[in-house]
Amino acid sequence: MQLLDDHVVLILGGGSGLGLGVARHCLGEGARVVIMEISGDKLVDLKGEFGDEVLLVQGDVTRVEDLQACREAVISRWGRLDALIGAQGIFDGNIPLKNVPLDRIESLFDEVLHIDVLGYILAARVFVADLEKTMGAIVLTSSTAAYAADGGGLFYSAAKGAVRSIVNQLAFEFAPHVRVNGVAPSGIANSQLRGPAALGLDSHRQSDIPKDAFLQQFLTLTLMPTLPTPEEYGPLFAYLASRHNTTMTGQTIVADQGLFNRAVISNGTADRVGQ
Ligand SMILES: NC(=O)c1ccc[n+]([C@@H]2O[C@H](COP(=O)([O-])OP(=O)(O)OC[C@H]3O[C@@H](n4cnc5c(N)ncnc54)[C@H](O)[C@@H]3O)[C@@H](O)[C@H]2O)c1
Repeated sequence: MQLLDDHVVLILGGGSGLGLGVARHCLGEGARVVIMEISGDKLVDLKGEFGDEVLLVQGDVTRVEDLQACREAVISRWGRLDALIGAQGIFDGNIPLKNVPLDRIESLFDEVLHIDVLGYILAARVFVADLEKTMGAIVLTSSTAAYAADGGGLFYSAAKGAVRSIVNQLAFEFAPHVRVNGVAPSGIANSQLRGPAALGLDSHRQSDIPKDAFLQQFLTLTLMPTLPTPEEYGPLFAYLASRHNTTMTGQTIVADQGLFNRAVISNGTADRVGQ
């Protein structure tokens, strides 16, 4: 008996990074997996990795008609949906507000908030009736940027804070049939999170931030000093997506390697204090 036996799990934005790692883990836990992804190139790679085992749907989460087509594909292949995992997203380029040209603010807001917030809202609306039938679950991806400054720029932080609030509100509205929870990771190795086209940064990756400086700071401040791979987040998402979660709804789990569980007096871990 595996955690996700008899579960059909849809992962939005599963073409790389977190969503792909979660998809691999869910497959290993016995799920029938669907990935909706905007990038045709990534879908070709996914086809190479999974063949016909995973249902692959090309689509844009900000388009209702794409989400409806995805729903039709899921229901026609498996007749049900047990879990919706939102893992799509883009970054805002980490640009301070005063450096964002005034005439780009609206388009930057629209781009980031459409993908990182509206996409989750539309998907919840399109799939809620199917999830009610199966007493299913929704798991959305927030970020430590929802809780503290410097996890991104203003637009990304606003979007991830909104995801946290969406989890609260949908858990209330969809109870008792559908459990709604979130995960707020701090950092993810092998992420391909792109920047915004509104600032001409769509070919940039969040991971282009100078790796050595970022890693050194991250590993110094976290209590569990590794940058987790997408697969390492898999068990958390899989549990929240499963019917084994009978105790939590409306929660966003902060998966931050202990980042927030410390202040900054000692430059390192406690065993270095006094040395
Ligand atoms: N990278 C990090 O350090 C980090 C930290 C905390 C939270 N997150 C969040 O984790 C999630 C996954 O990010 P990642 O780092 O794995 O990045 P990623 O770019 O590797 O994965 C995101 C996927 O979403 C897809 N996508 C983007 N726009 C889409 C759209 N409109 N429709 C459908 N698919 C779309 C992308 O093509 C990509 O495959 C995001 O919500 C991100 O904000 C990332």
